[in-house]
Amino acid sequence: MASSELTYRGQQHDAQQPAPLDDNNNNKPRKPTMPMPALRYVLGEQRLAFAMAGMALATLFFLLLSPSSTPHSSTTAAVSNVAHLAAVGLASHHSLSGATTTRMPMPTSAWPRLPGRVPLALKRKGLRVLVTGGAGFVGSHLVDRLLSRPEVTSVIVVDNFFTGQKSNVAHHVASGDPRFELIRHDVVEPILLEVDQIYHLACPASPVHYKFNPVKTIKTNVVGTLNMLGLAKRVGARFLLTSTSEVYGDPLQHPQVETYWGNVNPIGVRSCYDEGKRTAETLTMDYHRGANLEVRIARIFNTYGPRMCIDDGRVVSNFVAQALRKEPLTVYGDGKQTRSFQYVSDLVEGLIKLMEGEHVGPFNLGNPGEFTMLELAKVVQDVIDPNARIEFRPNTADDPHKRKPDITRAKDLLGWEPKVPLAKGLPLMVNDFRSRIFGDQIKPDAAN
Ligand SMILES: NC(=O)c1ccc[n+]([C@@H]2O[C@H](COP(=O)([O-])OP(=O)(O)OC[C@H]3O[C@@H](n4cnc5c(N)ncnc54)[C@H](O)[C@@H]3O)[C@@H](O)[C@H]2O)c1
Repeated sequence: MASSELTYRGQQHDAQQPAPLDDNNNNKPRKPTMPMPALRYVLGEQRLAFAMAGMALATLFFLLLSPSSTPHSSTTAAVSNVAHLAAVGLASHHSLSGATTTRMPMPTSAWPRLPGRVPLALKRKGLRVLVTGGAGFVGSHLVDRLLSRPEVTSVIVVDNFFTGQKSNVAHHVASGDPRFELIRHDVVEPILLEVDQIYHLACPASPVHYKFNPVKTIKTNVVGTLNMLGLAKRVGARFLLTSTSEVYGDPLQHPQVETYWGNVNPIGVRSCYDEGKRTAETLTMDYHRGANLEVRIARIFNTYGPRMCIDDGRVVSNFVAQALRKEPLTVYGDGKQTRSFQYVSDLVEGLIKLMEGEHVGPFNLGNPGEFTMLELAKVVQDVIDPNARIEFRPNTADDPHKRKPDITRAKDLLGWEPKVPLAKGLPLMVNDFRSRIFGDQIKPDAAN
């Protein structure tokens, strides 16, 4: 019969028949009886006693082998320490990659005795620093200086090598310093790294480079800075932005103080850099106010020194390369526009003081010594070739007429001021340029 296929056949009685009555003749199914044979089996022949003895032996065995069985440990201590580990979130640790890793418990002798103390394995060991754009001119000098500090245990350079070069940091690889790491990465893409401080320098800095792909320049300044701020927030790092004196545009105030809001063309050929950096400053302050992030802002004025890109269009590198190659020094406009020039080691000291200090900024970091382009050309002639000719060319768009930092704030609050005058710094740069242009044997930093 088809219906019989659907009948539950697990019961003893016939499904066609009514269910048997219970003891009181109620028409309810009878409760199953105790599985007496199973119980009898367990209790029989002292099987239970043997099982208990086995469990006791196993427990003893594990207690003896466990690393926690030091003379000081006790079961109570172990239990309380496990509770403590759970409380500090050690039992399960979420790594930055998003994966969850489980840590093995440490010997109780190493467990923290005081409430709130960080377990040894998780204690920060020194200072871990990320330098974006660390293979560039300023970045590579910053990396050298950071690695000279004993408290720094790790320096990670992130660079896409657009304007930077591996050779700028190759000496750290060659020396086999285990604290140094180099990662090819574009800051426009997010990256996850565990660090305590982020020096954010990644950005083409010379007009030739930042005008090459203006959309990429503004993307680097906006998206790149957002990514680094996001990283800083995520890992609780302090973030330092290297902004620029270009945020003052073609200034109507001279010298420029940090409270001056600038005079910037928002739609010009330099705007990708100037406005990009202004937005980067805005983002930095918004993360500071909104996410309580520890931030620092440096407004860097013209800086020069060894490892600058040759032919990058910046006036000092232009003049030095031209004088060395016996080419005329090209002066744009009438040559009366002014700039101030800071040697790179002064800037690096300023950046570190700013990062380590208590003040957010922005801080002008520059050398207030002011030179016209013609005066600079004269210094270059004195250092390299007194017979070098000067050639005048039409000025470029939006070239600021005057630039000179007021560094009162940095002097007062950071205790910083530049020490290297142009006449002393320029020959150091010339040595480096000469060796790179002519490939001679002069060591670039020999004079340092
Ligand atoms: N040198 C100066 O006179 C001066 C003046 C004002 C501000 N600054 C600022 O200081 C910082 C460093 O300048 P610099 O003179 O060393 O310039 P640089 O061009 O030598 O260094 C910039 C570095 O950033 C890297 N970079 C560029 N875009 C990147 C990206 N998207 N992702 C990863 N890396 C990228 C480059 O490859 C290079 O190594 C810049 O932010 C610049 O705006 C410099």
